[in-house]
Amino acid sequence: MLEMKFREIINKRHSIREYENRKIPKKILKRLVITATKAPSAKNEQPWRFFIVSSKKRRDYLAEMLWEEFSKLRDIEKLTAKLDKIAIKFYKNIGNAQNLIFVFRETRKNPPAYQYFNDIAGVSGAIENLMLGAVEQGLGTCWIGTFKSKENEIKKLLNTPRNYELLAAIAIGYPKKGSKPLIREKRKLSEVLKFI
Ligand SMILES: Cc1cc2nc3c(=O)[nH]c(=O)nc-3n(C[C@H](O)[C@H](O)[C@H](O)COP(=O)(O)O)c2cc1C
Repeated sequence: MLEMKFREIINKRHSIREYENRKIPKKILKRLVITATKAPSAKNEQPWRFFIVSSKKRRDYLAEMLWEEFSKLRDIEKLTAKLDKIAIKFYKNIGNAQNLIFVFRETRKNPPAYQYFNDIAGVSGAIENLMLGAVEQGLGTCWIGTFKSKENEIKKLLNTPRNYELLAAIAIGYPKKGSKPLIREKRKLSEVLKFI
């Protein structure tokens, strides 16, 4: 694959919610996690821990879990008709994503008060690296915060150590051909930036 320019990768990344029925080679998944781990972290503690789910059986179980959560959230969030339609399609089978990457932080004993925030910041940076690396590989991703409320079930399924805390779930796969991603509008620069 031709190398993409950084700006091109940034502009090409959108949350993808429909995927092809095509497996991602393990080598690529490993490379993406290496890309993730190049991120900065407070005191270089690298609190991130990754678990990648591939098996159909586990993915189906997770999809059921997600659908249950979405059904609860749907009433609270009152999505627009367009978003609701997209969400229904996505949550029913996680858009047919071939892999799910669960990202945890490893909690440590007697943490200083700021450690939680530092860990979230570090893990988020790692995830962004992974998502941009995915674009470079012709892959799409979607961060799924909704899984957080199923943390205990997920930890059990993945058999994680007890001191791991779930911070994110990322659906990943080859974007479905012909399916256009939802392009979300970004705020104007004047709304988010001030030079003083
Ligand atoms: C912390 C976080 C949680 C998210 N959770 C969900 C989710 O549960 N379901 C979903 O469909 N998208 C989820 N997203 C994706 C956002 O909806 C998406 O990033 C946003 O609408 C902007 O669109 P873009 O990623 O295409 O730029 C999440 C994103 C972040 C950063």
